[in-house]
Amino acid sequence: MEYNNNQQEQQVISLPRIGDPAPAFEAETTHGTLQLEDFKGSWVILFSHPADFTPVCTTEFIAFQEIADDLRKLNTELLGLSVDSVHSHIAWVRNVKEKMGVELTFPIIADLNKDVAKKYGMIMPGESTTETSRAVFVIDDKQIVRAVIYYPLSTGRNMPEILRLVKALQTTDEHGLATPANWQPGEMAIVPPPKTQEEADERAASDEFECKDWYFCKKHI
Ligand code: BEZ
Repeated sequence: MEYNNNQQEQQVISLPRIGDPAPAFEAETTHGTLQLEDFKGSWVILFSHPADFTPVCTTEFIAFQEIADDLRKLNTELLGLSVDSVHSHIAWVRNVKEKMGVELTFPIIADLNKDVAKKYGMIMPGESTTETSRAVFVIDDKQIVRAVIYYPLSTGRNMPEILRLVKALQTTDEHGLATPANWQPGEMAIVPPPKTQEEADERAASDEFECKDWYFCKKHI
């Protein structure tokens, strides 16, 4: 728990951490009322944006739509959120289609009373008390928070990194391996370091992996 030190808005702000159950919610969206529970069995990218009809957000929504098919192949659904009304979202979605030629097909939460934003710590009072920052929660098929990214209002997010992150997490789950810096699918993964002297000796003698040393081994997957 973290505390907002603005005296007028003394409230507990939840910040779900990696490994925590994703906070449950029911919310009004552009696709009707949805609960987080509806997504059980799929991975979810729950992301917030500051406001509809703003330029950086528009570029982000178009970019999210561009990776939606790739995400779906990874059993991953997009779910946007801002504190705008559902009518504002609908008008913006229609505007993006008309002016930019892109149909936004994923639901967007209308979090007018900030219920979901507060549960997920999406408002950064030091930056803005009225808008959600650019938060991304990667929630797995068991509804556990697996990764969290926060960007400031001024910086649009990087979609290849979000896609890479989902692929890396799913690779970790499937193979029990970690992924190195700048890892891309198809590249070797990292074997978690040994936890005992005995394991270290075994690892050093093993030809199962490509090792630089007992603690630094990679494996083809
Ligand atoms: C934008 O999306 O362009 C934006 C939104 C809030 C603050 C700054 C930029």
